[in-house]
Amino acid sequence: MTTAIDSVELTRVGPGTVMGQLMREYWIPALMCSELARGAAPLRLMLLGEKLIAFRDSAGRVGVMDHRCPHRGASLFLGRNEEGGIRCIYHGWKFDVSGKCLDMPNVPSHQDFKQKVKAKAYPAVERAGMVWVYMGSRANAPLLPAFEILDVPDGEVGVLLIQRDCNYLQALEGDIDTSHFGFLHAGHIDPDDLREDDPIHHTVAIRAPEYHIADTAWGTTYAGYRTAGPGRTSWRFGNFLFPFWTQVPNGELSHHLQVRGWVPLDDEHTMYCVLWWKRGVSAMTQQAPALKDGAPVGGMGRRNDFLPNTTDWLGRWRLAANASNDWGMNRAAQHDNVIYSGIDSIHLQDQAVTESMGAILDHTLEHLAPSDQMITRTRRRLLMAARALRDKGVPPPGVEDVEVFRDARGGYFVSDDKSEWQDAYAKQLALASRPPSTTLRAIE
Ligand code: FES
Ligand SMILES: [Fe+2]
Repeated sequence: MTTAIDSVELTRVGPGTVMGQLMREYWIPALMCSELARGAAPLRLMLLGEKLIAFRDSAGRVGVMDHRCPHRGASLFLGRNEEGGIRCIYHGWKFDVSGKCLDMPNVPSHQDFKQKVKAKAYPAVERAGMVWVYMGSRANAPLLPAFEILDVPDGEVGVLLIQRDCNYLQALEGDIDTSHFGFLHAGHIDPDDLREDDPIHHTVAIRAPEYHIADTAWGTTYAGYRTAGPGRTSWRFGNFLFPFWTQVPNGELSHHLQVRGWVPLDDEHTMYCVLWWKRGVSAMTQQAPALKDGAPVGGMGRRNDFLPNTTDWLGRWRLAANASNDWGMNRAAQHDNVIYSGIDSIHLQDQAVTESMGAILDHTLEHLAPSDQMITRTRRRLLMAARALRDKGVPPPGVEDVEVFRDARGGYFVSDDKSEWQDAYAKQLALASRPPSTTLRAIE
């Protein structure tokens, strides 16, 4: 059971909160590199409840800083992106990407104190098509997490951002709540209409799977398992990785390199950030799902229709289907069981149910079931790590030991292996495709 105190501590992410402090220990993916053009207008960026700006200076360097000018607080969003830095339009003070004050032109030169002034800037790096920001207090930022996907050359990484209008926790938990798949996404599918080798055949044939769950060095892991014919088992492995990442079994484990971030913009808004290996997407996963007679499976649309981005704090990567239009609900499709939910696209179905809970779910209302053990365990793991940091200064998992993330992967496989579940996973991973640079590193 999640108490009221647990619920508050888990969901609040602003400066000084328990979970906010935990998250500030890690690098955070903030925006796509392509969102910032050299010398172009700055962007408003909300992250962990802080109002920031992001810009790319004339030399191509990325700056991420508090939007308030350290002089008298005018917003640097209005600033002029000039040679080597951003200049406040109020009195002309100018700052480089590290926050250093370069110019104080409204003060006589003998009274100039620009060397004593610093804008609050956060370290930023670019990797895998994303700008990553470190908002913590360490003098030396930690390394980036050793996700396999970050070993892949940047050009081979696919990136997608979608804003979700709810707290990060309920959004994230959709990814580790595997029993919803057979209902929300596939409740209308008759297993007899699918080919035996279809990846979702076992999921819809047995809609109440059994689970194994464990804490891991990177966070938590689960395996949903079902019998898949004589002597064979269908396995679906998924992970939670500190502090807000998941890996889901929507691809074959052998080459499914993917991480999904649920980045809190503030307590009530989250940016879904998925990174995947384009070469690792199998032909089967790429094709639109079809029944064995070739007819398309309802509700599996893949299009994301976006509203135009605005300059608002929360104006980036919003879907056109949202709470204001009931996420495009089609009651006829729901009634006729063409689409169980009545909502097209797997992502939108997840978006609808998690946003429909309200901005921040009151977790004391829940009645968690045995099928929710992964959720319960993940909340406990997050809370214990956050409280250990607050009370004893214990660095949370994966901050000083980034390599713990390297062996985390989500995916499915069918096997006649009779090993223990985590041994079966390790054996599959040992046989799996690894990105080129990981292979090189292993050889060195
Ligand atoms: S408020 Fe920015 S220069 Fe004065
Ligand atoms: Fe889902």
